[in-house]
Amino acid sequence: MQRGEHLYAGKAKSVYLTDVPNLLIMHFRNDTSAFDGEKVAQLERKGMVNNKFNAFIMQKLEEQGIKTHFEKLLTEDESVVKRLEMIPVECVVRNIATGSLCKRLGITDGIDLNPPVFEFFLKDDARHDPMVNEYHIRSFGWAEDREIEFMKTTTFKVNDILQGLFMQHGMLLVDFKLEFGRYQGELLLGDEFTPDGCRIWDATTREKLDKDRFRRNLGGVVEAYEEVAHRIGVHLD
Ligand code: TMP
Ligand code: ASP
Repeated sequence: MQRGEHLYAGKAKSVYLTDVPNLLIMHFRNDTSAFDGEKVAQLERKGMVNNKFNAFIMQKLEEQGIKTHFEKLLTEDESVVKRLEMIPVECVVRNIATGSLCKRLGITDGIDLNPPVFEFFLKDDARHDPMVNEYHIRSFGWAEDREIEFMKTTTFKVNDILQGLFMQHGMLLVDFKLEFGRYQGELLLGDEFTPDGCRIWDATTREKLDKDRFRRNLGGVVEAYEEVAHRIGVHLD
């Protein structure tokens, strides 16, 4: 497959057209950002690790009946995906309180959330991804009722599947973010699932094994991603 015109560059991935209509190449770069792009760094190996991590998770989800944009791994740090028309909201599920939830509501960091909390955020770095609700999404035409319902039920299904997967290997899935897009009349899971967009703690020590290591200058960022990958069975080399 040929890498064609450069279509889009996000903070950590770039997207290219290909010689096949409706298929794109997603390139996972080593660039790492936090706080809506305010803090940035290059982390050696992260593109490769996240590419393989994402492929593994997307395939697991497909096996469990979740439709995703993922097609195949192409190179060490590139995958082939379907071209979606992205919905500009982020779907977050939280099983344990931390991050912006604690800042916003004064909730104690680390408490279990039962039932889990669901939140929508608008994808808008300049406005620091403000939280929005279903009324905003409908009024501003970002998604229709049935799409909103689909995103919520699918995000909860993904939570059930992945909480189980991480728990089997001694880890807690604290929270995560998903994005969806339209493809030939249906919604598919798009973007990525990697430690850049979720929080994972060791179940015993509660050590952070995700991008919070970068946000909080804890060091060993990619090493932690690799540790998670090895535990769940992602083949990195
Ligand atoms: P938060 O605590 O900062 O709201 O983040 C909740 C989870 O969603 C966390 O795992 C990080 C992820 N997330 C992103 O990856 N990108 C985003 O823009 C937002 C708002 C959250
Ligand atoms: N929103 C993500 C974070 O805070 C990525 C970013 O904003 O750069 O980690």
